[in-house]
Amino acid sequence: MTTTSPVAPDSDSRATAPADSDADSEPSSTAWTRKHLLGLEELSRDEIIAILDTAESFAEVSDRSRKKVPALQGRIVFNLFFENSTRTRTSFSLAAKRLSADTQDFTASVSSLSKGETFIDTAKNIEAMGADVMVVRHPTPGAPHLLAQHVSSSIINAGDGAHEHPTQGLLDLMTIRQAKGRIEGLTVGLVGDIAHSRVARSNIQGLLKLGAKVVVCGPPTLVPRGMERLGCEVAYRLEDVLPRCDVVNVLRIHFERQQGGLFPSVGEYSQFYMMTQDRVRMAKPDLLLLAPGPINRGVELTPEVADGVNSAILQQVKNGLAVRMAVLYLLSGKMDARP
Ligand code: CP
Repeated sequence: MTTTSPVAPDSDSRATAPADSDADSEPSSTAWTRKHLLGLEELSRDEIIAILDTAESFAEVSDRSRKKVPALQGRIVFNLFFENSTRTRTSFSLAAKRLSADTQDFTASVSSLSKGETFIDTAKNIEAMGADVMVVRHPTPGAPHLLAQHVSSSIINAGDGAHEHPTQGLLDLMTIRQAKGRIEGLTVGLVGDIAHSRVARSNIQGLLKLGAKVVVCGPPTLVPRGMERLGCEVAYRLEDVLPRCDVVNVLRIHFERQQGGLFPSVGEYSQFYMMTQDRVRMAKPDLLLLAPGPINRGVELTPEVADGVNSAILQQVKNGLAVRMAVLYLLSGKMDARP
């Protein structure tokens, strides 16, 4: 898949503009065919690479003194978050602003949902206000997919229960590709609460499509059955996996999605699965350490590891902005398409 570079150089950054950018061209996303981004499961390898390449172009915009491009001028992007968020919500909002869109946050806790209005009626009212895009986070798996069937706006899944978090998966891929120069042939360990992690599912889809080997590792109660059928290797002892890993993505324990009793105590979990300096030393010297955040220091990883030389946690956050700009930009070519 080919997409024209979206980033026209501005007057103060021509020297650093991507090699294929064209100052005189209108932004074009004509090769992109999708109106929605619901998950990495539905994307092809080429579509994932197109998003990553577009995100690299947008990463350059963040380094300019003037950080705006006009690609989404006149468009309205609504953030509909039915779960809390720091990174995803704010970076979607900032990404939309950098593309010159108008943005509006919808906060479920102070909305008319409390008066009995349904999820779909709420979205239809927001559609009536002219929303071109709805960025949706919801605790129920499939909620964004349901909206895509009922409204004409483009829908972006910003995390649906334990199902998928596609832009997190994409920013993880971007961070790995930047650090390692490739994804194909790498061994990536996903460590911790695999069962309740939407990040794990989006990582698995993206990494396998781009040719990485994926090893999931956690307590047996937090690793669902059937992961091998997806194409993953399953391990229960972190020490067995670490020496082979090029990348480790440390997943949070999702207490909010657990019924409890899945491991004896946080202390025992940390004893066996927390990334410590000693465990980092078991891995390759150039191990890339990721964590989607929020991180729980002293539970899934120690502060020294979180802030250490192998950690790319804040680079992931920076890349999240570029990935979300890329997704909004690519979908913008199809926003007016019929559902
Ligand atoms: N990683 C992530 O989705 O973070 P937020 O919940 O803060 O958006």
